[in-house]
Amino acid sequence: MDHDNGRMPHDTTSSGTLASFEALVLRKPGDAIESRVETLSEVDLPEGDVLVKVAFSDLGYKDGLAITGSGHRQLVSTFPFVPGVDLAGTVEKSSAPAFQPGDQVILTGWGVGERHWGGYAQKARVRSEWLVRLPGGMSLRQSMIYGSAGLSAMLCVNALERYGISKERSVLVTGASGGVGSIAVALLHRLGYRVTASTSRPNDAEYLVGLGADEIVDANHFKTAPDKPLLPERWAGAIDNVGGTTLAHVLASVSYGGAIASLGLVGGSTLETTVLPFIKRGVAVLGVDSEICPTELRSAAWSRLVEVLPDGVPEVAVHEVGLQDLSDRARAILRGETKGRTIVVLWR
Ligand SMILES: NC(=O)c1ccc[n+]([C@@H]2O[C@H](COP(=O)([O-])OP(=O)(O)OC[C@H]3O[C@@H](n4cnc5c(N)ncnc54)[C@H](OP(=O)(O)O)[C@@H]3O)[C@@H](O)[C@H]2O)c1
Repeated sequence: MDHDNGRMPHDTTSSGTLASFEALVLRKPGDAIESRVETLSEVDLPEGDVLVKVAFSDLGYKDGLAITGSGHRQLVSTFPFVPGVDLAGTVEKSSAPAFQPGDQVILTGWGVGERHWGGYAQKARVRSEWLVRLPGGMSLRQSMIYGSAGLSAMLCVNALERYGISKERSVLVTGASGGVGSIAVALLHRLGYRVTASTSRPNDAEYLVGLGADEIVDANHFKTAPDKPLLPERWAGAIDNVGGTTLAHVLASVSYGGAIASLGLVGGSTLETTVLPFIKRGVAVLGVDSEICPTELRSAAWSRLVEVLPDGVPEVAVHEVGLQDLSDRARAILRGETKGRTIVVLWR
């Protein structure tokens, strides 16, 4: 199998009797990345010890970057390529003792959809160590409503709790109407925190209040750097999806002894700040990663999602698409026009 030569193996060789399936394939015939739905067969798939029949995938900000080739560096560098950071489905074949045909599994992160073919295909061949079992009480569909976004939101909440942030003031969620933000608002609300949602769409406040936000702030105030290194203390903690000048504002406004779970960069990866929030207010920044975080942590976080939100994420936050719609939706997520979670239905 040669994945780097710009053509599918089945372009020139027979796929035999293996069943064909559909996938969103990225190709790069010139400078720009092109995406279209193609028919593949199992022989086209990369190596791995488990073959999964994919039921659902999802669309996060990183998928938007991968499909369009945007960002400061192109995420995908080998073509043809099947993107899709997350997938959920049923094991069809396995040479790994830990998984048997019929097992329901989730895969998020590990460079899938970036370096290894991902979830925008009806079948995926992957490495067994990347898989976690679907937690009891969660459907495959629900697992992709969470996806990397829900896992990350849960890890952020866990980090803030471990740090022991106070419930006396509210917790700020930035980029609140996005995928991670929407789930973070719902989780914090259910756990009894007062939640402040920062959004660049304050006219859409009803959506965030419906998810559990107590207060809405206009994110446009954070688009330029703060004029002082320390601003009035407003929040006990924060979950920051945005980075850049937004994170600089949040750092200057979190109250004494508070903490910020930092996981996103939709507003920029550069952070210009001072040490004053750290040395005058003891504020901590807790970095959160869901891509390569250890399996024990991620399995515990998946199970906790079911405990905290037994009914799952409210449907108002869910938008369903098929493979054909993904390229348009990818451009929309990068423009900040999507709300909540987009899930991809592989078999209709
Ligand atoms: N560290 C990790 O392991 C990890 C895992 C998952 C995701 N992430 C990162 O977390 C971030 C959020 O991911 P997501 O999937 O939730 O993305 P998303 O659905 O696109 O949500 C991001 C939200 O941020 C706001 N926003 C968009 N563009 C902005 C801009 N230029 N400046 C300021 N705000 C902007 C918008 O919310 P409003 O309209 O409400 O302002 C948007 O809905 C991304 O940076 C993603 O890469 C990191």
